Amino acid sequence: MALGRGHWGSRFGFVLAAAGSAVGLGNLWKFPYITWENNGGAFVLVYLAAVALLGLPLMMGEILIGRRAQQSPVPAFEMLGSKRWTPVGWLGVAAGAVILSYYLVIAGWSLWSFAQCIGWSLHGYTAKEGAFTQFLSSGSIQLVLTAAFSIATALIVSRGISRGIEKATMVLMPVLLAILIYVLITALTMDGRDQALAAVFVPDFSQMTAEGFLEAMGQAFFSLSLGLGAMIVYGSYINKDESIFKSALWVVVLDTSVALMTCVTMFTIIFSIPELQNDLSGSSVGMLFITLPKMFYTQMPGGAVLGPAFFILVAFAALSSTISLGEVSTSLMIDRVGWSRPKATVVTAAVVFLGSTLSALSFGAVGSLSSIEVFANKQGVFATLDHLAANYMLPIGGLLTTLFVGWKLGRKSTIEELGLSRETVPFKIWLWILRVFAPMAVLYLLFNVFMGKDFS
Ligand code: TRP
Repeated sequence: MALGRGHWGSRFGFVLAAAGSAVGLGNLWKFPYITWENNGGAFVLVYLAAVALLGLPLMMGEILIGRRAQQSPVPAFEMLGSKRWTPVGWLGVAAGAVILSYYLVIAGWSLWSFAQCIGWSLHGYTAKEGAFTQFLSSGSIQLVLTAAFSIATALIVSRGISRGIEKATMVLMPVLLAILIYVLITALTMDGRDQALAAVFVPDFSQMTAEGFLEAMGQAFFSLSLGLGAMIVYGSYINKDESIFKSALWVVVLDTSVALMTCVTMFTIIFSIPELQNDLSGSSVGMLFITLPKMFYTQMPGGAVLGPAFFILVAFAALSSTISLGEVSTSLMIDRVGWSRPKATVVTAAVVFLGSTLSALSFGAVGSLSSIEVFANKQGVFATLDHLAANYMLPIGGLLTTLFVGWKLGRKSTIEELGLSRETVPFKIWLWILRVFAPMAVLYLLFNVFMGKDFS
């Protein structure tokens, strides 16, 4: 529907909102812990390669589709391509709903950590080993937190996103960055620094498996919010005279810096305070919520103030991501089914919350939900959905999107949309990546995993 679409106030408006979508739990929570699980170095290098070679070109592709079509993903694929392409949009909607369902659970943990930090700041730090595992297995706490975060997300989405998001991220992103830099600097004064830097930046390819490659690529898509049309939605609000390349580059650089800073910080804390490794040995899923409070309250000048501030910012970073995930399904219901925005939001939120309950109870609260194992070494509903969405749905969605931009859109419209007057060399490289390299890379990795031992 072409009802006067809102536009971002400035290039920075788009960059900040898109970065708000990209920077989230993927950077702060997921990247450090899967880097840990995949033994660092080589995994990080593969991740960076995936970001540069697949992420950046695809991000440009998604923004381009959105700006060209001025539509949400499903109608965009139909309008610029044909009805045959709409399943790509629907796959994105499904992936968005799946990710949102478990993302809300982790987002809820940030509210918990915030509350805990307030308590510690007032009464002293009293975290005990194993406390986090206990928290994870309390079904009622998990459900309440997840519900709280779902309601917050739905409230914002139901009011329409373009204005609120731009304003909020304009303030919150810089504050988050500033705190992260201070946190990093503090961490770098600790003993474990050299060991941490070596673990993150010195590659050892003997540690990499086919799944490791797939997970690195999946994480690149996940962290940059690619593969399900979220950037198509945001791209539809970007002004015609902005450079798609520069905007995408900004988002990619911001997102990747945040991921690396967070990862180095956490690894340093873990290597500096050995008893933390016991707490993480069972599962590193709670790394963000275990390591940082320890540093805030035992190592950091001003930590008692920054602790709560940090976790409230984590909650906001998560919120700007859940909003963008929710917006994909909601905008579709509005465009396609013709529902009002509030109705579309309530229905989406209710359906997604049903899925959330399964994830929320899969950290020990309900035995069968916690032990189900569809993919090898991914136990429980939460781990299963995360693996399915990030490592299969997003790469496949991304693959189809690159094919769409590369082969279906046509050179003329892409050149025009990119603001070029002729086919420059960078343009040719970009097009080749979308047409040939990206699809081959995704297929090659999926093929290897299928032929290998990923399924138990
Ligand atoms: N990128 C976000 C993060 O790193 C998560 C996210 C938000 C996302 N919107 C998305 C992932 C769209 C994939 C697609 O936390």
